[in-house]
Amino acid sequence: MIFLVALVLTVCALTPTVDCATAGIEWCYHLPACKDTNWATISPKYCNGSRQSPININTTAAKPDESLTEFTFTNFSSTTALTTIENTGKTVKVNFASGVQISGGSLSEAYNSLQFHLHWGNGPSIPGSEHTVDGKRYPMEMHIVNVKSSYNGNLTEALADSTSLAALGFFIEEMSGNATGEPASWKTLASYLANITTKGQTFTLPSGISLDDLLVGVNRAKYYRYLGSLTTPACNEVVVWTVFKEPIKVSKDLIELFSKTVHVNDTSSPLMTNTFRGIQPDQPVTTQAVSSASTTCYSLGLMVLSLALWKNL
Ligand SMILES: *[C@@H]1O[C@H](CO)[C@@H](O)[C@H](O)[C@H]1NC(C)=O
Ligand SMILES: *[C@@H]1O[C@H](CO)[C@@H](O)[C@H](O)[C@H]1NC(C)=O
Ligand SMILES: *[C@@H]1O[C@H](CO)[C@@H](O)[C@H](O)[C@H]1NC(C)=O
Ligand SMILES: *[C@@H]1O[C@H](CO)[C@@H](O)[C@H](O)[C@H]1NC(C)=O
Ligand SMILES: *[C@@H]1O[C@H](CO)[C@@H](O)[C@H](O)[C@H]1NC(C)=O
Ligand SMILES: *[C@@H]1O[C@H](CO)[C@@H](O)[C@H](O)[C@H]1NC(C)=O
Ligand SMILES: *[C@@H]1O[C@H](CO)[C@@H](O)[C@H](O)[C@H]1NC(C)=O
Ligand SMILES: [Zn+2]
Repeated sequence: MIFLVALVLTVCALTPTVDCATAGIEWCYHLPACKDTNWATISPKYCNGSRQSPININTTAAKPDESLTEFTFTNFSSTTALTTIENTGKTVKVNFASGVQISGGSLSEAYNSLQFHLHWGNGPSIPGSEHTVDGKRYPMEMHIVNVKSSYNGNLTEALADSTSLAALGFFIEEMSGNATGEPASWKTLASYLANITTKGQTFTLPSGISLDDLLVGVNRAKYYRYLGSLTTPACNEVVVWTVFKEPIKVSKDLIELFSKTVHVNDTSSPLMTNTFRGIQPDQPVTTQAVSSASTTCYSLGLMVLSLALWKNL
């Protein structure tokens, strides 16, 4: 889910049409009336669109694109950039201080990083990532939400632009072996869940962990790219998606805490579980081109091989 309250409210204020006429029905993941398969009815303007997220990424069908360069991550190493953690009733969201930014990665300009939030299943055995890769669903997925810096907070302009948001998706996979409380950054993050067990609770984060700490072990040069949407109503089709190939590895006990600690409302309400939208129809996906160096080696190898074969004739 990419969840931007202000954005959604603005959509409703500006377009008093079908989706907002029914805004009285709040969306949800599991109740029959408001679950994801009904969003196209509850919020049809965009949720019933033609470039919806998440998707299954078919790795065989991903086309090479030489323009998919590396990103520059500004202030991802800052240990004071994560300001608050919040239970929204739909997810756990961490807000950023200003000054966190991404650029490069074939984006048209720098994007300001606003927040990250998470999607999960129900314990480590019921996975809950939003995107899937060749049909594989990971235990969790982290979404870092970024908005074009040139809008300078003007959401009216941003919503009219089909690439106004850039979302970075990171899969979370269970660490192998019997490790617990690893990595330390995720142990720290998960420890704050106890402070936001009910909807609307916000906890001010002490300094300590950075985004780089949370993205430990991931080669951020390898990713998939496609154009899609917000994965929660109103499902606006304004998102440039980047889904990284390598997962973050987190120990099982920490993954389990997400589906065992935070509630959708007060403490007597259900625990927040299976917080992901179902797979939407395929979109064209691109990825980095195979480097020319390895192509050359391969061609040379073939040449040597064919010469050898010719000699044997
Ligand atoms: C969704 O769009 C399709 C055509 O694109 C249409 O047939 C269908 O009725 C729409 N569904 C809703 C709930 O609006
Ligand atoms: C994945 O893409 C390949 C190549 O385009 C295609 O042959 C295959 O059927 C696709 N698989 C699925 C599950 O869509
Ligand atoms: C990084 O953040 C610090 C403080 O939060 C800020 O002073 C600095 O300008 C930021 N860097 C950039 C390039 O925005
Ligand atoms: C946002 O942009 C629109 C269109 O360019 C403009 O009319 C409006 O005044 C801007 N709003 C703010 C708050 O700057
Ligand atoms: C994990 O713990 C089990 C039971 O204690 C043990 O048999 C197994 O060897 C451990 N595995 C690893 C990779 O340490
Ligand atoms: C956060 O939650 C932990 C565990 O329940 C508790 O010990 C700690 O006092 C809480 N911190 C604050 C500031 O509420
Ligand atoms: C959420 O909890 C509050 C406080 O207990 C309650 O007033 C409200 O009706 C609950 N909302 C739902 C949708 O259950
Ligand atoms: Zn999301």
